[in-house]
Amino acid sequence: MALDDYSAAALLQWYADVGVDEATGDAPIDRTKLADKPAVVSYAAQGEAPVAEGARAPLPPLNLPGMKAPAAPAVDANPGSFEAIGDAKAMAAAANTIDELKQALEDFKGLSIKRTATQMVFADGNPAARVMLVGEAPGADEDRIGRPFVGISGQLLDRMMGAIGLNRDETIYISNVINWRPPGNRNPSDAEIALSLPFIQRHIELVNPAVVLFVGGVSAKALLQTTEGITRLRGRWTSYQSEGMAAPIPALPIFHPAYLLRSPQQKSLAWADLLKLKARLRELKILP
Ligand code: URA
Repeated sequence: MALDDYSAAALLQWYADVGVDEATGDAPIDRTKLADKPAVVSYAAQGEAPVAEGARAPLPPLNLPGMKAPAAPAVDANPGSFEAIGDAKAMAAAANTIDELKQALEDFKGLSIKRTATQMVFADGNPAARVMLVGEAPGADEDRIGRPFVGISGQLLDRMMGAIGLNRDETIYISNVINWRPPGNRNPSDAEIALSLPFIQRHIELVNPAVVLFVGGVSAKALLQTTEGITRLRGRWTSYQSEGMAAPIPALPIFHPAYLLRSPQQKSLAWADLLKLKARLRELKILP
């Protein structure tokens, strides 16, 4: 079926939105037709295990006209494996400075979202700040610019911080659990979070803030290792500690600004949480 330019662009956009970002062959394959043709290869004759009666023989590798072999993956094939998580832990633990951690993340081969993102989004703000914010994952604006929270929700986050006297030039440092934009802005998978966790934990250890804010449910759940939702977690002070920290630090989960943009009626709760934060920062002499 021929598509006009408008429909073709709309279709491509839809593919991108649902996370389809790679073509593996020039010609479409109607797999419903293929399934009707069980393989008639005699594996036994080839010295392989016979196929049990009633069971379908495994299909031989597809080799259709016009079909190209998929390109070799640029990253490890099994990103959620224990081995990849072991690599992530070892590489993160070996980093002794923020720059070394950034390099370790660049070198890590276990995250396939690197292939679809424009660039890594590592951090922004003052690495010597006493307050660190950890969000979820970069979106389209962050992916384009290379800094966390620079899009519309980031602008709201800046206003929220500004309302209690904090700013990213001096008093806050910001990163995300995930450092590459998931394609089509989909939610990060459990495997992607598990692979990224050692890096953000090490990131917090190296920044060594006095207080950490978990911005949104993904960040709070991942770093506090809980299944509780952000609606229950937000505004409740808790403590956070990872293996490489000498002592726990106060941690406050807050609503994600993207959620507040969608649900402005929740802004009063967010404001109450910011006032709690301000009071604590005054006690700690971080704010006057
Ligand atoms: N949302 C996040 O959680 N992080 C960003 O950097 C941008 C949007």
